[in-house]
Amino acid sequence: MNKLIVSLLLTLGISGVAHAAGDATAGQAKAAVCGACHGPDGNSMAPNFPKLAGQGERYLTKQLHDIKSNKRTVLEMTGLLTNLSDQDLADIAAYFASQKGSVGAADPKLVARGEAIFRGGNLDKGLPACTGCHSPNGAGNAAAGFPHLGGQHAQYVTKQLTDFRKEEGGRANDGDAMTMRTIARKLSDEDIAAVSSYIQGLH
Ligand code: HEC
Ligand code: HEC
Repeated sequence: MNKLIVSLLLTLGISGVAHAAGDATAGQAKAAVCGACHGPDGNSMAPNFPKLAGQGERYLTKQLHDIKSNKRTVLEMTGLLTNLSDQDLADIAAYFASQKGSVGAADPKLVARGEAIFRGGNLDKGLPACTGCHSPNGAGNAAAGFPHLGGQHAQYVTKQLTDFRKEEGGRANDGDAMTMRTIARKLSDEDIAAVSSYIQGLH
């Protein structure tokens, strides 16, 4: 076998270990400390703490690795993931993914504008519809790693879109393709408020 194929197989082997399948039952005990902010079943009560219940496993695992390595900065979680192994992170992701997410309510005054952006985007601005990746009911695409948004706290969603929109010092863990950064930069403050409220009531 030539060296290139050997190293390719090794790389695949290593990444296979890094993305080991999670065990939801083992994850429940390991997630005990997370419940204080995210809720024991991942349905947080505070609007600045994201709901994790029902979130896609692949997306959750990626965020946990990004937060642990500080590629995504979450000050509230400083040090919490340091001593967790790849297997621990996979198990925790599997646990929250297996829980049922709760839904909130949208502000009736913002629904029309929020729905128009979520379902139609804005052709003039070159803004794609959110449904294309996050699906019409906000469930996302778990296999592709596109996050579930439906029912998420509006305050948290607003913060993420504002962070993605920042030129510097914002949330920059959306990959080299800059998918969400490019999209968020086409949204005004009013657009963000409307689409975030719409998402909170979406199911
Ligand atoms: C002290 C409160 C606190 C604790 C404890 C905490 N988190 Fe978080 N977590 C946050 C906050 C705040 C954010 C969102 C930060 C932001 O606005 O970007 C977050 C974000 C996340 C995200 C990203 C969610 C998304 O939709 O992108 C994941 C995943 C996560 N936390 C998992 C965990 C896990 C697993 C634990 C336990 C090991 C944990 N958190 C403990 C406060 C906390
Ligand atoms: C081309 C696909 C695509 C489109 C279209 C898209 N998104 Fe996303 N979105 C993503 C991906 C991929 C991520 C995860 C990035 C990462 O890995 O951190 C994401 C993440 C997010 C997050 C963060 C979720 C969380 O739990 O922290 C929000 C909020 C969001 N998108 C809102 C929107 C809105 C609103 C629209 C429409 C205006 C939209 N997205 C359009 C692919 C897309």
